[in-house]
Amino acid sequence: MKARPIVLKLGGSVITHKDVPLSANESAIERLAEEIAEAKVPQLIIVHGGGSFGHPLAKKYSIKEGFNGKFSQLLGFSETHQAMITLNNMILKALIHCNIPALTIAPSSTIVSKSGRMVARIDDHLKNLLRLGLVPLLYGDAVLDSDKGFTILSGDQLVAAAAIQLNAERIIIGVEGDGLFKTDPKLGRGDLIRTCTLQQLKELGKQTRKTTAHDVTGGMQGKIAELVPAVEKGITVAIVNACKPQRV
Ligand code: IPE
Repeated sequence: MKARPIVLKLGGSVITHKDVPLSANESAIERLAEEIAEAKVPQLIIVHGGGSFGHPLAKKYSIKEGFNGKFSQLLGFSETHQAMITLNNMILKALIHCNIPALTIAPSSTIVSKSGRMVARIDDHLKNLLRLGLVPLLYGDAVLDSDKGFTILSGDQLVAAAAIQLNAERIIIGVEGDGLFKTDPKLGRGDLIRTCTLQQLKELGKQTRKTTAHDVTGGMQGKIAELVPAVEKGITVAIVNACKPQRV
């Protein structure tokens, strides 16, 4: 491959209105598609989160916890996936509108996790798309799980797995805030951490808040836990405020 790929995550709280179920932030999606087009990255993989499309349904039906044998939960699994493909289609449409040749890879059809962890390799498929000049588009999804029946695979886990398997140059995580803070800015005053080493990142992972009310995949703490293995492989991770123009 020509260049090492860059893996970009568009956080759910950027592309949706997190407090309003099934509400997309269309202006943010359109702006981000324009910014991605302007950046002209030669090898790009985009992964988006669930925000108010994925999380409320995943929570309502306890999808992450696995199949409980009840029919109602099967419908919940379908509904969660349906919400994600609805959101995915909006993002795909915005990217194509900006002349980005994106192609969705639906995790629910291609990945079976094991106890919530992604063990499958997806690099061959991604490489085939990249080689043609396509931009693979993935998302956090409700997926089959060989131990639990099904579960939720977070976009962050997908980002790290894709980046590690493809030896990516960089991971860019677009979030709602300015990045990582020494203390949680929503709980009290916070100092933005401008750069940090692997060791500092691990320490931060222990201190950071586990979850938010709407988030089934562990909030910022879950994000850090997923990113540590990629940083261990020497992949640089940038966490940027994707709500602000031109940061991504
Ligand atoms: C969650 O993906 C997907 C579902 C709940 C179906 P993420 O965990 O990556 O989503 P965000 O970015 O936190 O919203």
